[in-house]
Amino acid sequence: MKHVLFFDSGVGGLSVLAQVRQRCPQLSYSYLFDNRFFPYGELAEAQLISRVEQLLSRAVEALRPDLVVIACNSASTLALPAVRAKLSIPVVGVVPAIKPAAKLSANRHIGLLATPGTVKRTYTEALISEFAADCQIEFLGSTRLVELAEMKLAGEPLDYCREVTEILEPWATLPTLDCVVLGCTHFPLLKEEVTQALEGRVSCVDSGEAIARRVASLLPDAVSCATSPALHAYATKAVDQRLVERGLAKYGLNHIQLFN
Ligand code: DGL
Repeated sequence: MKHVLFFDSGVGGLSVLAQVRQRCPQLSYSYLFDNRFFPYGELAEAQLISRVEQLLSRAVEALRPDLVVIACNSASTLALPAVRAKLSIPVVGVVPAIKPAAKLSANRHIGLLATPGTVKRTYTEALISEFAADCQIEFLGSTRLVELAEMKLAGEPLDYCREVTEILEPWATLPTLDCVVLGCTHFPLLKEEVTQALEGRVSCVDSGEAIARRVASLLPDAVSCATSPALHAYATKAVDQRLVERGLAKYGLNHIQLFN
């Protein structure tokens, strides 16, 4: 059975894993949280590249996947070339869904909601020039939103709508903004709050569906098996038990092993 390794700083990549599993239920999966270095969106670029390159090399050696998904925009927009050069298996990166957003936006006015790292990457700038040169783009980089997504999945009681509305305040007075790119894999976990904060005026797009198609095309001959395929989880630092019980269990992750 073919095996895919998913990787993110935290719970964000689970939003992508869910879509890929739905499309490719016959594959086995591992999920690696680099929670020791969370949040990735705040790390210096050189530090992030070397961290991702080293950790993924070790993880691929130990877990022997057939394919890696870097389910993190902050890491993919920066470290993909370095990781691909180092590994001999296919590496799929998750980058902001600028191209689908440009196809969707009737008003040619798009908001990019991502981490502080992703909004300022050269890679992101290149994506915009290539696919959305005729669109007005608003940038909003927020680590607080990443933290809120982690808290929501852990079932922390909080008024998430109010918190998200405050963060999106700069966009509340932009009537032509009609499409928001959820350019961080944590943000689909807050999609409802984002839509409500902008009073339902926007469509939210993420990269999950495109990644599912890509994985399916790279592992086309994967065979189905009678038993339910394995799903293993690893973290670089102990994960709060409440998050495991209230949040990760929903994704089938009941036991997290330390990976150092
Ligand atoms: N989920 C990640 C992303 O897509 C990283 C969030 C973070 O650790 O800052 O960018």
